[in-house]
Amino acid sequence: MEQLSASSSFSVATPQGLRVLIASSEAHPLIKTGGLADVAASLPTALRQLGCDARLILPAYPRAVRQLREPKPVCELRMQGCRANIRIMAGLHPDHDLPVYLVDAPESFAREGNPYTDLSGRDWGDNAERFLLFCRVIAVIAQGLPAMNWQPEILHGNDWQTGLAPALLQDAPHRPATVFTIHNLAYQGLFDRATYDRIGLPSTLWSLSGLEFHQRLSFIKGGIVFSNRVNTVSPTYAAEVRTPRFGCGLDGLLRQIGGRFSGILNGIDYDVWNPDSDPLILQRYSREHFGLKVENKLDLQREFGLPRSEDAFVLGYIGRLVEQKGVDLILAILPELLRDPRVQLVVVAAGERQIEQALLDIAAKYPRQIGIFIGYDETRAHRIEAGCDVFLMPSRFEPCGLNQIYSLRYGTVPIVHRTGGLADTVVNSTPDTLAQGNATGFLFDETQPQALLNAIWQALRLYRDDPEGWRRLATTGMAQDFSWEASARQYLQLYSDALAEHQTCHAASA
Ligand code: GLC
Repeated sequence: MEQLSASSSFSVATPQGLRVLIASSEAHPLIKTGGLADVAASLPTALRQLGCDARLILPAYPRAVRQLREPKPVCELRMQGCRANIRIMAGLHPDHDLPVYLVDAPESFAREGNPYTDLSGRDWGDNAERFLLFCRVIAVIAQGLPAMNWQPEILHGNDWQTGLAPALLQDAPHRPATVFTIHNLAYQGLFDRATYDRIGLPSTLWSLSGLEFHQRLSFIKGGIVFSNRVNTVSPTYAAEVRTPRFGCGLDGLLRQIGGRFSGILNGIDYDVWNPDSDPLILQRYSREHFGLKVENKLDLQREFGLPRSEDAFVLGYIGRLVEQKGVDLILAILPELLRDPRVQLVVVAAGERQIEQALLDIAAKYPRQIGIFIGYDETRAHRIEAGCDVFLMPSRFEPCGLNQIYSLRYGTVPIVHRTGGLADTVVNSTPDTLAQGNATGFLFDETQPQALLNAIWQALRLYRDDPEGWRRLATTGMAQDFSWEASARQYLQLYSDALAEHQTCHAASA
């Protein structure tokens, strides 16, 4: 295969025109199961606005193929472990002028529904093969495919599904610099030894300093061990995962890599999440016209079959139903909280079947106070952000969290556990911060139902007793700036650090 020359590949260290390939297994709206999708679409867009030539690569899930703009076949590849040829398709993101490559391997990716699990919620049995194939293709493209006429200077992988790409590239003479972002350390891509032997990874990678993790194959270790720079999505989570409590067994490794590992807070896309221009909500509003927000509350109550009342104190929850998110804390406090007939809860969520069922059961008991939709639905998510008074995020851990940042923008006061990105984005209401006018929400410290309940009661008291204080709290949140530009600039710095290290290693091994 023809290769680009080393000099043309590595000479540009300035951001202008910097070529970055962002690899992810989801990107909104092509395919989304969580916050990674939002980041994978908005970070490259923000980087392009700063002058980078950022491009995205994803598996060709049917939903993604259907939404790709101006799709064109680029080339076909023969890959180890795959009987049929793999097609690379190029096109544009549906909403931005962002080049997107799709890896079309129908046997692996042409499955409707969730990219990781079958309809019953079980992981696909061939996930190791599927994402190894994705990583192999990423690694080939990262070295410059003649048919593409483009080689990235930076390969930026995200989460375990891309973790083996830097490992596969480690000895490649024309590899780019590599950056790896951990969006959630709890998902590591772990498989047994038999799988490792079956899928044809080089035996040299099976070691403590390679992909082996407690006698299993770890995809995420590939990203952490073999990348020039590693980061996660908030400074507090970056500190937390270096401790045994949050490190999911990888805290030692993350401490060991020292300054190669850092935290960069995600931004949010204010073109999509802005109450002043949101086409999905009934009544648009801004800080100056905060009073209009209540129209969205009435609309939300109508949509979820709850009694329409301006005075109701409406709590919202949106998210995946997994242990991490602490929904059990919400379930535990509901009987006590809902004794106040003016409290209502609106939920859009999906995930583990027993949590779904527990929510449905309790909603059936309180039909006038709980509205629930099981599933993920972008429109309802916008309406919850616009229509609720407060937003609950009692996550046990939260790498960054985006919904609390959307809530701030919509003047929907977040009540959050003091962890990860939640601690980095919400300023707790205390007599001092309220008096100074910099409070934006409520934080609680213990992952205990009572701690959550106390925080909700504190919020409810302010809401009922001091409407002007409440308005100030909510509109202070609306004024915060979590746009992508600042975060994208930090990624540029990370890329330039990765390039510098890569060039030093290159010079040393030349
Ligand atoms: C994952 C994390 C979440 C983070 C998102 C985007 O979904 O759980 O905290 O905001 O990735 O980085």
